[in-house]
Amino acid sequence: MLCYQNLAFQNMSSKKLSDIRQNYSKGFLNILDLNPEPIKQLEIWINDAISVEHPEPSAMQLSTVDADGRPHSRVVLLKGIEAQNLLFYTNYNSHKGKDLEQNSKVAVLFFWPLLERQVRVEGTASKVADVQSDLYFASRPRESQIGAWASPQSAVVSSLAELEQRYKKTENQFKGCDIPRPPHWGGYSINPDYFEFWQGQPGRMHHRLCYRHQENKWRIEQLAP
Ligand SMILES: Cc1cc2nc3c(=O)[nH]c(=O)nc-3n(C[C@H](O)[C@H](O)[C@H](O)COP(=O)(O)O)c2cc1C
Repeated sequence: MLCYQNLAFQNMSSKKLSDIRQNYSKGFLNILDLNPEPIKQLEIWINDAISVEHPEPSAMQLSTVDADGRPHSRVVLLKGIEAQNLLFYTNYNSHKGKDLEQNSKVAVLFFWPLLERQVRVEGTASKVADVQSDLYFASRPRESQIGAWASPQSAVVSSLAELEQRYKKTENQFKGCDIPRPPHWGGYSINPDYFEFWQGQPGRMHHRLCYRHQENKWRIEQLAP
């Protein structure tokens, strides 16, 4: 398997990175077509990604900033949009959880290459109510519930074997019973104050429209690509 992967990389490396470029031509983004509510516009674009069966249509890159001002990005899944806010679930003791404890400002990025679209969102994250995390945790597959207890997300572990042992131990511990939500696992709700919608265009003249939340209203502006 490893050999096969190495071979695939060798073949790919025959193309120079500086020669990789895409000509974007799949759509337009006209200010007149935008929904006045950015969250609705985001929902429209997520639904478009789902309609074209885009891989991981709800995946978003979440960036947080640590106590030293160093940014960190990783992918999480958007699990809902409620009252204008974006929801995701994670381990509160993870790196991102620790970042969010001291700096609640986040940036989120969706990229749907099949649609030649990107959306940037910025805002403030806060923990959701325990009852909401309980409800979502209860809806997860049992394997994921065990994983949430077994994996000390972001901590250094000695080996894969240690992780497997932890998983088995947790599986046995909860044998025959429902698995409650671990107290260190739950949701965050991101309250956005900035959105930017990007649609690729020929000649790098991409369409960019942003919404800024000012004086309780969303102001839409065109940005140069
Ligand atoms: C497609 C995809 C979806 C993911 N979804 C989640 C998620 O919803 N929640 C989560 O905690 N981690 C998710 N991860 C793992 C994170 O990217 C990351 O590895 C993990 O949360 C630890 O990040 P941290 O150490 O910066 O806290 C996902 C990864 C991928 C590639």
